[in-house]
Amino acid sequence: MASAFAPGKCILFGEHAVVFGHPAVAVAIDQGVEVSISESPSWMLEGSPFEPSRHPHISHIIQNVFGYDGHPLNIEVKSELFSAAGMGSSAALSNAFGAALHAFLDPSEPLVPIELAKMAHSAEATAQKGRASPTDTATSALGGFVVVSGGRVEGTRHVFDTSLVTPEGKRDWSVNAVDVPESIGDAWLVLGFTGEGSPTGRMVAKVAKLVSSVPERMMDLEAIANITNAGLTALSAGNLEALGIAMDACHERLRSLEVSNHKLERLVEASRPHSLGAKLTGAGGGGCMVALTDNPSRVSEAIEVAGGKPLASKLGASGVTITGE
Ligand code: MEV
Repeated sequence: MASAFAPGKCILFGEHAVVFGHPAVAVAIDQGVEVSISESPSWMLEGSPFEPSRHPHISHIIQNVFGYDGHPLNIEVKSELFSAAGMGSSAALSNAFGAALHAFLDPSEPLVPIELAKMAHSAEATAQKGRASPTDTATSALGGFVVVSGGRVEGTRHVFDTSLVTPEGKRDWSVNAVDVPESIGDAWLVLGFTGEGSPTGRMVAKVAKLVSSVPERMMDLEAIANITNAGLTALSAGNLEALGIAMDACHERLRSLEVSNHKLERLVEASRPHSLGAKLTGAGGGGCMVALTDNPSRVSEAIEVAGGKPLASKLGASGVTITGE
């Protein structure tokens, strides 16, 4: 028997702009996915026979990464994340499963988070027709605050570089960490789920079409890049007020790129009176918003009253951990 936990993530700054090579800042949250593995008479996943084609992340890790053809396994998954909501649930599943299988097969070998991040990224890419940025998988594997960009980012600690051959050509990313002062620990994030999935592929295509047909919208992407840099400076200095202001500014630019919707606007508006800042997070068109606050219970109530599902977390949870061997 072996088990591992991997956290979900929330994008603080830079969604959509990251697709155009600008930096994005993501943070690991307290909630995540726990996977347990044990030997079993036949292959099982959550009490049902395991069908590899329906679970491409898991089958990629079993077959292509570990080349495992040993005894059948029983796989149990416990998730605290809303799925298809932009919280990185599939990345957390890949990391937790990869870490649990590693601990199951080779308990004496220490886990290497960078290797795990790369493994989970390859699983995401396989499951998403070759298109996946390493943001979710790296944040879940490493924990803390992660900056993903087309190049090195000033004021951050470089962790690793990675690349992927996508249907549109080879993409290269630099994955960096941000060291933050303890004062960041005074704040909370409250995520508000609209109850609707976030169609990432469709929203990314919508932004690509908008910026090619209305070239002034390219200015919004450049503005998001500037806001991301200001947000990074605020994070590194532990300046929560400035962090909140940057989140509000980022939301305005995402609205202008037409990726917000009525439900997201309602949840953002409801949180703002009790927050330092609030914005949609991830691809938009549904999914989640996030508020930065020192009063998580008031914000959670406001989100619930406005029709959303709240989830409160401290900022910068630990990365993937082995929870049982
Ligand atoms: C989705 O969580 C974030 C986007 O920037 C897409 C991506 O980075 O691949 C919208």
